[in-house]
Amino acid sequence: MNIAIIGTGYVGLVTGVCLSEIGHDVTCLDINSEKVELLQKGISPIYEPGLEELMLKNIEAGRLKFTDSHIIGLKDKDVVYIAVGTPQSDDGSANLSYIYKAARDIGQNITRDVTVVTKSTVPLGTNYKVRELVMANLQDNYLVEAVSNPEFLREGSAIHDSFNGDRIVIGADDVEAANIIEEINKPFGLPILKTSISSAEMIKYAANAFLATKISFINEIANLSEKVGADVNEVANGMGMDARIGSKFLNAGIGYGGSCFPKDTHALVKISQDHGHDFHLLKSVIQINENQKTLLVKKAKERLGSLEGKRIALLGLAFKPETDDMREAASIVVSKQLVEEGAEIIGYDPIAAENAKAILPEEVQYAEQIEDAIKEADAVFILTDWKEIVEKALLMSGLFMENPIVFDGRNCYTAEEAQKLHVEYISIGRDA
Ligand code: UGA
Repeated sequence: MNIAIIGTGYVGLVTGVCLSEIGHDVTCLDINSEKVELLQKGISPIYEPGLEELMLKNIEAGRLKFTDSHIIGLKDKDVVYIAVGTPQSDDGSANLSYIYKAARDIGQNITRDVTVVTKSTVPLGTNYKVRELVMANLQDNYLVEAVSNPEFLREGSAIHDSFNGDRIVIGADDVEAANIIEEINKPFGLPILKTSISSAEMIKYAANAFLATKISFINEIANLSEKVGADVNEVANGMGMDARIGSKFLNAGIGYGGSCFPKDTHALVKISQDHGHDFHLLKSVIQINENQKTLLVKKAKERLGSLEGKRIALLGLAFKPETDDMREAASIVVSKQLVEEGAEIIGYDPIAAENAKAILPEEVQYAEQIEDAIKEADAVFILTDWKEIVEKALLMSGLFMENPIVFDGRNCYTAEEAQKLHVEYISIGRDA
């Protein structure tokens, strides 16, 4: 099978690299020529553990190529993956203009029968529209089939997840097309679930919405635990031991961020509305999450009074550890709030500081080392639980701060650990 992938963002690049790693010939297409030049040299535009090593290996083996030309990239391809972005529009829906452009490009440039596989997260019915668009633009009488093959990778562990995921979903109405994509994916050795196109499209939204619900649920339990004197970490442990609930995604904190949960939950609410259904539960999940991001500043004001002129160290700027992705990161909301309160902000992130500079308010200063952020601070905020931050934040606050106080948005420590280091410690869902 000759495979092309349109879009070399996080999903497209990881998919391309992993498909080449299991032995397929893959050409990745992107309209950004500068990016393509970097990719051809084996340089990844995103930080993703293990990605560059696999890229280089497969480029050298001749299985992985990059091009900015649709004519070259789509020539003689049997299977074309669409992995372009579906950003959020103002009304909450997914913007499908890149998807539709990709479909037209496939139609205009494909030179044989083709199976078009959509990896991007798209609203129900989009795969049918993609097939129609490809067919409407064909230059000859080729057969076109559409397959929905949503991705379930987590940023920061995408390579690991590709080879160790829980399932691969293949949504197709044509048996032959489903079989082709199954054969391509077999070397991953993961369970494969074949469904209809519509079910596959729905599985992706439902899975992300459910995970977001789990997080907002435990965050509400955290907010209640504070009031009744319970410890949300103990509560989550006790809940998670019930196999029907499961222990994952029950970490309370300052909410979920990233490119997926916020966008997909909004999109599913919009899809529901478009079908005359009011998805109350998911609206609440979104609202709880917005509220959660504001909790640390609220707690700091309650404890310290005015934050005017106070120097706050923000530790962990990316939306989660092991990524430089700033999309919907809690640091965006927190730093804006702190600027409004007149606080001085010094940010630190092991990887994401450069990306943060383009997004956070210009008043934010940045430290090269975590200790430089903590040393002069009046208070420390932990926003992302990077390993380095968890290892050092409490310890260094105890060592370097005059009146050490840590507001922990990720519940990285116990009260006992903080006490030992003489640090005043305020976390989420654990203060009576
Ligand atoms: C998420 C899903 O986990 C993937 O399965 C899916 O493929 C991906 O979206 C996508 O749709 O592309 P990702 O956004 O990379 O992956 O990150 P997660 O590890 O799921 O974390 C999302 C957010 O939830 C982070 O801000 C994290 O801090 C937060 N989170 C996660 C919590 O607050 N509590 C938890 O218990 C777990």
